[in-house]
This record gives sequence, structure tokens and C-alpha cells, in this order.
Amino acid sequence: MVRSASADAHALKEINCSSVSLSTLDTLQRPLQSLRLSVTDRCNMRCTYCMPEEDYKWLPRKDVLHYGEFTSLVELFVEAGVRRIRLTGGEPLLRRDIFRLVEQLTALNALEDIALTTNGLRLRDCALDLKRAGLQRVTVSLDTLDEKKFRALTRRDGLRRVIAGFDSMEDAGMKGTKVNTVAMRGFNDEELGSILSFGIERNLEIRFIEYMDVGGATDWKSTQVIPKIEIISILEKQFGAIQALPKTDAAPANRFQLQNGTTFGIIASTTEPFCQSCNRSRITSDGHWFHCLYAVEGTNLRELLRENRMDELRSLIRSQWEQRTDCGAEDRLGLAARKAQGEDPDHPHIGMHVRGG
Ligand code: GTP
Ligand code: 5AD
Ligand code: SF4
Repeated sequence: MVRSASADAHALKEINCSSVSLSTLDTLQRPLQSLRLSVTDRCNMRCTYCMPEEDYKWLPRKDVLHYGEFTSLVELFVEAGVRRIRLTGGEPLLRRDIFRLVEQLTALNALEDIALTTNGLRLRDCALDLKRAGLQRVTVSLDTLDEKKFRALTRRDGLRRVIAGFDSMEDAGMKGTKVNTVAMRGFNDEELGSILSFGIERNLEIRFIEYMDVGGATDWKSTQVIPKIEIISILEKQFGAIQALPKTDAAPANRFQLQNGTTFGIIASTTEPFCQSCNRSRITSDGHWFHCLYAVEGTNLRELLRENRMDELRSLIRSQWEQRTDCGAEDRLGLAARKAQGEDPDHPHIGMHVRGG
């Protein structure tokens, strides 16, 4: 029923290669296609798996890129092959009038996909503007439907607001909304079925994510990870046999189908990394480019950008991608004792909330 990881990697490479005529390729022939812009490191939640501390040292405001600066960078990345942009954070809807950035990106007329990942708290107020600006897809993080647990996990109130956000998206005519649910043993293992049912009722694609030892997730313990196969067997008890669907794109989720036709995803970054087909990289809000979610160092693009040295930036982007060897999640499979990457908690870009998940 479940395809082997190597068959999927092979199929994905073919998918990648068929649509990459202009994309820069790295050392593993992975195209530069998908770029995540973390537009702010600030967040109005404190999810324990992402921001376990209460206080953080924020990136200096003077270093944070203006929308025009992000757009100029995106133009250069488009020249190098990027076709998909995802706005992330921290919480991207904390940036004032974020729809203005979406408008600018839409006006480039060069992108196949403009998406955004949010915690949903401010969606209610932003949905219509985002849709009008040309945003195509939204993914909302939602790990529990229980108010008390929501408060314990995020250390904020707001479950009702997040749910109202889904309604606003629907009212705004936004299609293809997805939900990210980090599956954590002892926290929501008994709720996975109800979250999937919530998705079925509202026509949302649920994606269960294995808890990752990444960024500032310093409370991570391997015992809390619910591996993909266990997620499937938990859900099969409630919904009957589950069928794995073949991969049709280079996105991280493996997709599955219930007998009634409902589809959902599992992102198994911890136990079955998708590094072999990874076509994505990320830029932090202060303009550092990371080639891998797990990379320790990024490249500062801000300085060259602010000095208007565009030709140098152009060749730097291409040459760095051509030299890219990163397979961060795969490398971690081989570590005897795994833990989150925050070995140096003072590193300004280590947190998932800085590099944008
Ligand atoms: P789609 O285009 O809809 O598939 O979006 P997405 O899955 O890329 O976006 P999203 O922001 O919803 O990310 C889902 C999960 O995948 C998050 O937990 C991310 O941390 C994880 N993820 C995203 N990019 C990477 C990556 O480059 N490497 C690894 N290992 N995990 C990633
Ligand atoms: N493990 C798995 N997923 C995580 N996210 C943040 N931190 C972690 C982690 N340690 C997810 C959030 C968000 C997405 C961008 O990343 O749930 O939906
Ligand atoms: Fe939670 Fe996302 Fe904020 Fe991290 S960035 S604390 S995952 S809402």
C-alpha cells in the first residue's frame, strides 16, 4: 500500500525535471523553484514546538526588508527559476498591510503560486484583502480543537478566532485551504481523527506533520514524535483502510485517501525526509538566504541589495544554488542522539519562527 521512499524520490525527480527548463540545478539536480519569504520573526503565539520561550531577541527593525526589497529579491530568484512563493513568519499577518506585498508579487506576472502559512489569529481581518491582492492559497496551523489544549500549546487564547478565520476565507472565495497539524504524542494523538473530520466538514486538506527537532524546538523529544505509519494506523481505526496516493509534485506531504474519497497529507520530515526532491529555500525577514531548513548559516543578501549590486546578487544566487549539497533532514537520520538545532540559542536565525518553517 505505501510506496517506497526511493520510488517516490525517483518519480519526483522526473516531475521536477519536466518543468525546470529555466531553473538553476544544484549538485543533486534539484531545481531552484520554491522560495519561502519569512516576512517577520515576530509571532502572536508561542507554540511550544516552535517558540518554547516567552521572550526572544527580535531581529533589528532596521534590518527587516521592506516589501519593495522583498519584491526585488523575488525578481532575481524568478530569473534563476523560482515559480512558487510562500509567505511565512513568525506570523506573516503581523506585518502591516501584508496584502501590499502580495499585490507586488502578483504584479510580477511570473509566479505560478503565491501562498501563505499563518497561525490564523488575524485571518478574519485579512482574508478579503489577501484574496483581492492575488493570494492563491493559505495554510493554517491548527493542532487541537480543544480550547484548553489550544491555550496550553500556544500559550495564547484564540481557537475561536482561528476557526472564524476559516469562515472568512470561505466568504472571500479562497479555495484550496490546508491545515497543518503537528502530531505530538501525549498531546493530540487522540484528536487526530476529529481534526480530520473537521477538515472533511469544511473542505480543508489536513496535513499531519511529524514533530521535528528543528530550530528553536528545544523541548523536542524523540518519544513525542508520532511517525507516519503510526498516524496512519491511528486513523485507520476510525476511518477504515487508508490508501497511499502517488506523488504528483515536489511538496513535502505524502498524500492519502480514505475510502470515502477524502484526501489528506502527512509530512514525515522526521522519519522519511524528502531531501532528495527538495526544490525549496528560504529568506529571513532580514534578508538571509538559507538553502535548507536545517542549514546553520545563511547568506546575507541584504547588504548587496541595499547597495543595489544586482548583478553580483544575480550571479551569487545562481552559483550558490549550483553548489548546493544540503540534505539536512536526511543527515539528521544518522545522528545517534537527536535534538533541536538550537545548540547555539543566541544564533539570530536559528529559530523556526525566524527562518519560516
Ligand atoms: P505546499 O506547497 O502546500 O505543500 O506547502 P508547504 O507544505 O511547503 O508549506 P507549509 O508552510 O505548510 O509547511 C508544511 C511543513 O513542512 C512545515 O512543518 C514545514 O516546516 C515543513 N517544511 C517546509 N519546508 C521544508 C523543508 O525545506 N524541509 C523540511 N524538512 N521540512 C519542510
Ligand atoms: N515540528 C514540526 N512542525 C513545526 N512547525 C513549527 N515548528 C515545528 C516543529 N518543531 C510547523 C508549524 C507551521 C509550519 C510552518 O511549521 O505548525 O504550520
Ligand atoms: Fe506557533 Fe507559527 Fe508562531 Fe511558531 S511561528 S509560535 S508555529 S504560530
